[in-house]
Amino acid sequence: MGRRPDGFHELVSVFQAVSLADRLTVTSHERLILTSVPFPNNLVLRAGLLAQDTVGEDLGGSFVLEKRIPAAAGLGGGSADAAAALLLLKRLWRKPFNVHRLAPHLGSDVPFFLGSATALVEGRGELVSALPSPASQCVALLRPRVELSTAEVFANLRPEEWDSGNTTKTVASLLRRSVPIPQHLLRNSLLGPALRCCAPLGRLRELLLQHGFQPHLSGSGPTMFVFIQSGEDIRKLATLAQRHDADLYQCRTIRGRPVLVRAVVARPNDPDSTSIETARR
Ligand code: C5P
Repeated sequence: MGRRPDGFHELVSVFQAVSLADRLTVTSHERLILTSVPFPNNLVLRAGLLAQDTVGEDLGGSFVLEKRIPAAAGLGGGSADAAAALLLLKRLWRKPFNVHRLAPHLGSDVPFFLGSATALVEGRGELVSALPSPASQCVALLRPRVELSTAEVFANLRPEEWDSGNTTKTVASLLRRSVPIPQHLLRNSLLGPALRCCAPLGRLRELLLQHGFQPHLSGSGPTMFVFIQSGEDIRKLATLAQRHDADLYQCRTIRGRPVLVRAVVARPNDPDSTSIETARR
C-alpha cells in the first residue's frame, strides 16, 4: 500500500499455504550445523543463531534440510524453513524463547509460517490474523527457471501501483463467511514490477493466457499459480512448462498449519531427535 519510513512496504495480503513442502530434521549436536540438499539455506542457520543469542547459551543442533520448494521463486520456502527451525529448536532445547518475537527478524514472511494455513497479513508482514481456510483446491505452480530477488521487485514498484488494500479486505471478508473467492479478486500489486524485472515471466504468463488459463503471481514471483479443474489441465500445463523452460509443481491448498510438526522420534541412541515439515502433504 505504500513505502514506509523504514524502506519496507505496508502490506495487506491474504496468504495461503500449499502442500509443496521441504523437510527439516534436527538432532542434538554440540554446535549449530546444517546439511542442505540440494541448496544452501542460510535462514535455517540464522534462525539457530538468533535463538542461541536469545537463550544466551551456546546450544547446538544438527539440521538436515531436504529442499523441494524452489529458492528465490516467490513461494516463501526459505521463510517456511526459518519458521520450522525456530519451532524445532524450541522443542529440542526446551528453553522458553518466544518464536513469534524472533520470526520478524528473520524475514517479513516468517511470522505467517508460525500461524495458520490461511491468513490476512499486514504491516511489514508481522501482523498475521488467521482466516478460515477454503476447501482444499488443486493448484499448479509454474516457475520460469530464473531467480528473482524480492528486494528488486519491491524496488521497481511504482507509487501508481500502490493499492488501497480494499480488494484484499473483501477477499478476507468472503473467506470469513465461507464464500468462494471469484478469481478476478485475486490480484497482486507486485505483478507489474515482477513483469518489468523478469521477461521470462511475461512470456510464460502470455502463453498461459493464450491457452485459456488464469495465472496469478505468487508473492513477488516469478512463480505463478493456476487452479486446476481436471487431469487434462495438468497434462496441458506440463507440455507448456516443458516447452518453455519452466518447472511445474502440482499441489493442493491446505488447512491447519503451514509448518507441521510431524513426529517426535525418540531413538534409543538419540533421544532428542525430532522431525518437522514445513507443510502438510
Ligand atoms: O523481509 P525480507 O528480507 O523477506 O524482505 C526482502 C526485501 O523485500 C526487503 O529487503 C524489502 O526490499 C522488500 N520488502 C518490502 N516490504 C515488505 C517486505 C519486503 O519492501 N513488506
